[in-house]
Parts: sequence; C-alpha cells; structure tokens
Amino acid sequence: MKESKEYYDAIQKMWDEFADINIQSEMYQTDEFLKGKTSLNTIELDELGGYVKGKSLLHLQCHFGLDTLSWVREGAKVTGVDISGRAVKLARELAKRTKIEATFVESNIYDLPENFEGKFDIVFTSYGVLCWLNDLKRWGEIIAHFLKPGGIFYIAEFHRFIWVFDWDNKEDFVVNNNYFHDPKPISYTTEGSYAGSGNKNEKFEGHEWAHSLSDVINSIINAGLEIQFLNEYPVSPFPRFPFLKKSKDGYWRYDHPKIQLPLVFTLMAKKED
Ligand SMILES: C[S@@+](CC[C@H](N)C(=O)[O-])C[C@H]1O[C@@H](n2cnc3c(N)ncnc32)[C@H](O)[C@@H]1O
Repeated sequence: MKESKEYYDAIQKMWDEFADINIQSEMYQTDEFLKGKTSLNTIELDELGGYVKGKSLLHLQCHFGLDTLSWVREGAKVTGVDISGRAVKLARELAKRTKIEATFVESNIYDLPENFEGKFDIVFTSYGVLCWLNDLKRWGEIIAHFLKPGGIFYIAEFHRFIWVFDWDNKEDFVVNNNYFHDPKPISYTTEGSYAGSGNKNEKFEGHEWAHSLSDVINSIINAGLEIQFLNEYPVSPFPRFPFLKKSKDGYWRYDHPKIQLPLVFTLMAKKED
C-alpha cells in the first residue's frame, strides 16, 4: 500500500486542477455568490445559522472558499483550511474581490495542529469531505483539538450509505462499492471534475476512502465530543447521481413514489465546557 503522503500528494494535485474548473462551473454559481447570494444551503443555515453570529469558525476542507465567505456574511469570523494551494489562492482572491475578511490556510488537515494555532467556537465542514480522509479517528481528534471548551462541531455531508452505489450509472441505484471502511482507497484516474471538464491532455489520480456512518459517529465520540443530533435527509444540494431530479426548492431528489433513501446527513456535537 502507498504511504499516505503519496496519496495526499496526488489528492492535492487533483484538487488544484478541480479548483480552477469548479470556480467557473455552473454547479458552484460563483457569479451568484459575487452578486451577494449565499452558497450555503437551507439545511446548514437552519441547523447551524443561529449559532454563528460573532463566533469564530474554522472551516475544514474549504475548497475555494464560497461557503467560508458565506459564513462571514452570516456574521462569523472565519478561517478556511484546504490542502490545495490553488483553491486557497482562489479563495483569497474572492475574499479580496468581495471585500470580505477571512483567513485562508493551505494545509493538509492532518498536519494542521503543527502548522496552525488557534481555538474556535465552531468547527464546520461540508459536502464531499470525508472520502478524502484516510483516518477518521485522527480527524475527530483534530476537530476536538481546535474547539474551545463548549465549542460546536457541525458537519453536513453526503450520506455514507449512498457510497455503495455506482456514481456513473445513469438509470438507477446499482450497488457496486463496499459500505465499510477499507484502509486501501478506491483509486482511479480522471480528466475532469464532477462540475466540469478539465484539460483533456492531463489525467489526474484520485483516491477515496469509504467510511460508514458508525465510523463518523464513533470518531466524534472517541474525541470526547457529545453528539447533539444526527439528521438524515432524502435530498442533496448537488446532483450526486445523474438520475436525481431537481425540485423547486433547489434540492435534488430520487424521483420515486414510495422509496426514498438518505442522501445527506448532518451531525452536531459539543465539546465539554
Ligand atoms: C468537495 S470539496 C469540499 C467542498 C465544500 N463543500 C465547499 O465547497 O466548501 C473537498 C475539498 O477537500 C480538500 N481536501 C481533500 N483532502 C484534504 C485534506 N487532507 N486536508 C485538507 N483539505 C483536503 C480538497 O482540496 C477540496 O477542496
């Protein structure tokens, strides 16, 4: 098995490319953000929005900063962290362009305790983050490390259950992945991101790890945090599968009269006072 450094070098390279594609993509709607629209969804706004005003917030795996800067618009004092130097550069440019104050740090979150000092009221992370992490136990410890006593951790993420389905099947849910964690990632090559096509001459290595919902919950419990709630939603803010249908509220749903599956979960946990 490759050392995790080799995996993360490849992951960083891939996300440097994806950052350039995604910032211009229809999916991310950067133009709408520049006009003042939030990139946050009603799910996280309803569940976390009431806590953020005047609070310090650490955004893990912040990508090119849309959600990070949107939390500033909601009243938080925000620091975003991402492994991709290109994403962090684009995030800083967006902050400058919109005159929104935020700090962005380029780091693998596993190296963050050595690279960065600070304690936060809130640690936030969302949508498409866990699959890039090889060690959720350590992830939980890092979250606890950066929280102040009484601080809140919040995640909104694609449900771990949908990991089992074939991403590319255009017709329906077809099981083709293991639900449970395997230390060896699923490795592949790609030319473009989920949000658009890239430079067709260059291929990138991707590596993703499966984690069950119990892995997520136990890593938070093992880190000493107290879970406040776990919610599951039959909707997704992104077209995670090609056959999902977009509803008027902007969420993507499985269009079936009887069967609904959990597409997203959220979890809030608190560090002891
Ligand atoms: C799907 S994006 C997250 C998008 C997020 N919902 C947003 O737009 O704010 C995943 C991000 O995780 C970052 N990433 C992956 N592995 C990481 C790691 N070990 N440490 C820090 N960032 C990482 C990638 O560079 C990428 O920007």
